[in-house]
Amino acid sequence: MADTSAAVTYGSYLKIEELLALQQPRSEGPEHDELLFIVIHQVYELWFKELLHEFDRVAALLTADDTSRAQHTLKRVLTILKVMVAQLDILETMTPLEFLSFRARLEAASGFQSDQFRQIEFLLGAKNQAAIERFPPHTRARAALTRRHAAPTMWDAFLHYLSREGYPVPAAHLERDVTAPIESSSAIQKILMDVYRTDPKNAELCERLVDLDEGLQEWRYRHVKMVERTIGMKRGTGGSPGAAYLATTVGTPLFPDLWDIRGHL
Ligand code: HEM
Repeated sequence: MADTSAAVTYGSYLKIEELLALQQPRSEGPEHDELLFIVIHQVYELWFKELLHEFDRVAALLTADDTSRAQHTLKRVLTILKVMVAQLDILETMTPLEFLSFRARLEAASGFQSDQFRQIEFLLGAKNQAAIERFPPHTRARAALTRRHAAPTMWDAFLHYLSREGYPVPAAHLERDVTAPIESSSAIQKILMDVYRTDPKNAELCERLVDLDEGLQEWRYRHVKMVERTIGMKRGTGGSPGAAYLATTVGTPLFPDLWDIRGHL
């Protein structure tokens, strides 16, 4: 029988027509810099999607005790994070006046409303019920956040992995409420110090988690500096105090025990 389906092309596989139709500036003209602003945000959302995909893989590999491939996937995640931080340089070429030329057209839209960013936070342990409630019921975003909120975090996958590696992780940690924030624990710190001193394979894994934690903090720091240089101390379009709010989110570690032990090693 003859094959009537069209041959796959670059354009059909990657949905280029659809992709190129997705950048729709709102300003009159439109203002020159609005396209860059849209493209950068869309690229970030694609990276967020890819990160979530890779994080799920890391957790699954840890659960399968496949340390080597978990490390390999974490390395990919960290490389993506570096690119994400570097991309802020491009947006920093936009001056305050260039941004003001279309800012009003954003109305109340803000990166604060990125559900994929919140999903990443949830997956890494920074859970927040209120963040779910900002999304309307019966939407993809709400369903995804609700699912991530109830799911174990990367830290939980790591603690279970350490337990299977023979470390005495207390049952209270293995059975903890995964919707609660990750808190420092002297029992876990004792284990981690042991890992660092005697177990190079798992110490490497710990280092990659520290890289990840630092990488996200780096993105937050660079984002707040970009915000400061672009809008100063003005309020955000999302309704927050702006840079002052963002500054409160910089420097809070995801995995506090991995930082706390460093002064005691
Ligand atoms: C000129 C560029 C930008 C400015 C002036 C800006 C400004 C802001 C402000 C003021 C906030 C605080 C919430 C609010 O009141 O709106 C915020 C939050 C946020 N922005 Fe941006 N932003 C910019 C670019 C970006 C880009 C490129 C991304 C990439 C996706 C992004 C992602 C986020 C995220 C995820 C939050 C929430 C952070 C949190 O709650 O911890 N922003 N932004």
